[in-house]
Amino acid sequence: MKIALIGYGKMGKEIEQIAIDRGHEIGLIIDQENQNDLIPDKLKDIDVAIEFTNPKSAFDNYQICFEANVPVVSGTTGWLDKIDLVKERCQSGNGFFYASNFSLGVNLFFELNKKLAKLMAPFSEYNADMEEIHHIHKLDSPSGTAITLAEGIIENHPRKTKWIEAASTKEDELSIFAKRHGAVPGTHSITWHSEVDEINIQHLAYSRKGFALGAVLAAEFMPKKKGFFGMKDLLNL
Ligand SMILES: NC(=O)c1ccc[n+]([C@@H]2O[C@H](COP(=O)([O-])OP(=O)(O)OC[C@H]3O[C@@H](n4cnc5c(N)ncnc54)[C@H](O)[C@@H]3O)[C@@H](O)[C@H]2O)c1
Repeated sequence: MKIALIGYGKMGKEIEQIAIDRGHEIGLIIDQENQNDLIPDKLKDIDVAIEFTNPKSAFDNYQICFEANVPVVSGTTGWLDKIDLVKERCQSGNGFFYASNFSLGVNLFFELNKKLAKLMAPFSEYNADMEEIHHIHKLDSPSGTAITLAEGIIENHPRKTKWIEAASTKEDELSIFAKRHGAVPGTHSITWHSEVDEINIQHLAYSRKGFALGAVLAAEFMPKKKGFFGMKDLLNL
């Protein structure tokens, strides 16, 4: 498979290594300095583009790939205000795969989080909050993974209707505390507190390898696909 890497930072470099190890060819690398090279003509022989840049550039990059009819796998977070526009493009025949987090462990954690929220729903003595910790270079806050986790709680717990990035005492609000430390690849924990105890679940990434492998597996899944896909489609969860 011939892959275009759009964004050659921490994730782009990890993905390149794993893609090569799995027998793929990197046909094009686009980073900030050569972003003008991202034109449909240069994507002619590309089977799939993997996009990990930043919240400001991601949507424009998808548009160029769509023009060239190249499916996109993206892990960039912080652009979801434009998700409806991407879904429209998918309805008109483009292929797009998005995950706020590509690691197998986090996707299992998403399911565990939803099950726990459902289990806690009848017990008003417990209230939840969330903490996420990432490296100091992360641009968006709270993390895309934290937002997915918050949505999982809101969907499964009748007393939580929204999340807020602050301490809240309102019963319908889920507090998210986002912390930035050193080089932390990504830690998420959810705690259900009562007056007498607490239940805590945590996912802690040791490195970026799990995210990068998930992105390459998604790229292997995408060629010739049309529509909007996510980890549930890939992992059959
Ligand atoms: N979904 C996941 O599993 C997952 C995992 C890790 C990171 N992320 C997200 O992926 C994104 C990238 O993370 P990172 O750690 O690699 O960041 P990074 O800052 O190390 O790399 C981003 C790269 O994109 C380049 N870039 C900026 N604008 C560009 C443009 N217009 N065209 C092409 N390249 C451009 C930058 O020069 C940089 O090299 C972030 O949004 C981060 O939150 C997602």
